[in-house]
Amino acid sequence: MATYQVNQSRLWQTLLDMAKIGPGVAGGNRRLALTEEDRQGRDLFCSWAKAAGCTVTMDGMGNIFARRPGRKPAADPVLTGSHLDTQPTGGRFDGVYGVLAGLEVVRSLNDRKLETSRPVEIVVWTNEEGSRFQPAMVGSGVFSGRFTLEEGYNQVDADGVKLGDALEKIGYKGTARVGEWPAGPRPIHSYLEAHIEQGPILEAERKTIGVVSGIQGVKWFKARVTGMNAHAGTTPMEVRRDPLVGAARMVQAVDRITRATRPDCVGTVGEFKVGPGSINVINAEVRFSIDLRCPDGGVLQELADRVRAACGEISGEMGLALQLDEIWYSEPTEFDDKVVRTIAQAAGQAGYPARRIVSGAGHDAKYLAGICPTGMIFIPCENGISHNEAENITAEQAGAGANVLLNSVLTLANEE
Ligand code: GLV
Ligand code: MN
Ligand code: MN
Repeated sequence: MATYQVNQSRLWQTLLDMAKIGPGVAGGNRRLALTEEDRQGRDLFCSWAKAAGCTVTMDGMGNIFARRPGRKPAADPVLTGSHLDTQPTGGRFDGVYGVLAGLEVVRSLNDRKLETSRPVEIVVWTNEEGSRFQPAMVGSGVFSGRFTLEEGYNQVDADGVKLGDALEKIGYKGTARVGEWPAGPRPIHSYLEAHIEQGPILEAERKTIGVVSGIQGVKWFKARVTGMNAHAGTTPMEVRRDPLVGAARMVQAVDRITRATRPDCVGTVGEFKVGPGSINVINAEVRFSIDLRCPDGGVLQELADRVRAACGEISGEMGLALQLDEIWYSEPTEFDDKVVRTIAQAAGQAGYPARRIVSGAGHDAKYLAGICPTGMIFIPCENGISHNEAENITAEQAGAGANVLLNSVLTLANEE
């Protein structure tokens, strides 16, 4: 079977051009969901997609679809893409790579005048990162019927801005129906997402391609610890109920318990806020987040139970009040066997060293897997570093992943 190649240098230049929007402070990007920077990134993508002959539409969640028609215009499309929003100190490739690899696939099909039987759509999902609005992956979550549109719009950022209002402000609240087509999500033939691995495995094993078999489970919690707000100079140590000291012990407990549970579990406290936060005041409250992940759903639940019990014990011992809410559960996901094999075959035919891999990071593909056959293609990233402005890949790595995406799209979009 013929294997096709994308235009690697064009893809690389497109990635670098997108990275000029919303520059960070250390060579990466700050393009938080539904900010002015996100709008500029979306505008640039739409202009490129239109120049490539695509019809561009938006749904009510601001998800963008750039459609290249197929010989059978009404056939269910093959969808490929990812996200353009970034973390506050994000890299240039997390998400962006999957969107622009999809664009490069369409451009390459155009160069060769290759028609497909089914339409091919490049998609940009709204608020994948979950940094400004939580939980994450809400655009694909609403599209897939996992959340209602109302739930999506009602997500609130740290300043009290609602996602629905932010979407309207940047002009990306589209009209196409979402998540309810007409009784369930819009029919999609299959979904492919190319992404950087964001971890160290492919690089360490000198593999060019990760054929992603699934995504590990994730639980997010919000904790609020309250104690007694008091004077730092006059309150004797033995009568204090200091929520910051309690919260610090809880952070240590998350780390200790996760390490002791299983080597493939991870636990992180990423947000931490004290109130009122004054040098000579024992704080009244501390709020923090907990992110727990494991490929095994049962073990993830055990880990969550242990962390909850430990935090409860600490607050009890110290006379503090603890509120610990689970705000999100994303179950472990297995991708579609046929799509996974299609990707493995495309990698094999191109002669790329490849291996199966479970994704440590969350992706929109998780929610798409609930409504259509889904798979992901990983490429290595330098030192496995991501969610960091230093995140890096090479043009060759970008090109290899896009080649596998191109050939996988061709196979799927020509299926009856
Ligand atoms: C998204 O990037 C996540 O894995 O949290
Ligand atoms: Mn991502
Ligand atoms: Mn990310």
